[in-house]
Amino acid sequence: MAVLPIVLYPHAALTTQARPVETFDDKLGEFIESMAETMYAANGVGLAANQVAVLWRVAVIDCAGEDEPSQLYELVNPVIVERNGLLVWQEGCLSFPDLYNDIKRAAEVTVEYQSRTGEKRSVSATGLLAVALQHEIDHLDGVVFTERLTVFEKRVALRKYRKILDRRGLTPPE
Ligand code: CO
Repeated sequence: MAVLPIVLYPHAALTTQARPVETFDDKLGEFIESMAETMYAANGVGLAANQVAVLWRVAVIDCAGEDEPSQLYELVNPVIVERNGLLVWQEGCLSFPDLYNDIKRAAEVTVEYQSRTGEKRSVSATGLLAVALQHEIDHLDGVVFTERLTVFEKRVALRKYRKILDRRGLTPPE
């Protein structure tokens, strides 16, 4: 297990579609454990493989509060099979440090996925978990959360993001 470096937007891995996992071996299990460790180290509630520059359809999510027991979801090849309603949630992303945006998504989703050993599983969720599932599955499709904004909102958000990176001495996006 290791904490992996998280890439920042506009790294190419964030706008590239990840490939389905076909081999459920120890290497996959170790990668998933490193992803969970990386997410917890960064205080995130979700992390997609694209964010550590690996193009596999793998994501981890844990939305449990600080005083609750952890509830880790290890999602391999996740697919949204049902969505209902609409909600607006203020989202952040570990690949866009300090940037927060109100994003409109389905209020309720059902996701089918595989475990690290390839078993079929499903989860139905509302609230933060529903948001995290949609946000992370978007990542696997190469879609970052600013793509869910209107053209105008996106322009404002990326301008703000550029300033945040400038202040941190990081390379701004194109
Ligand atoms: Co994200």
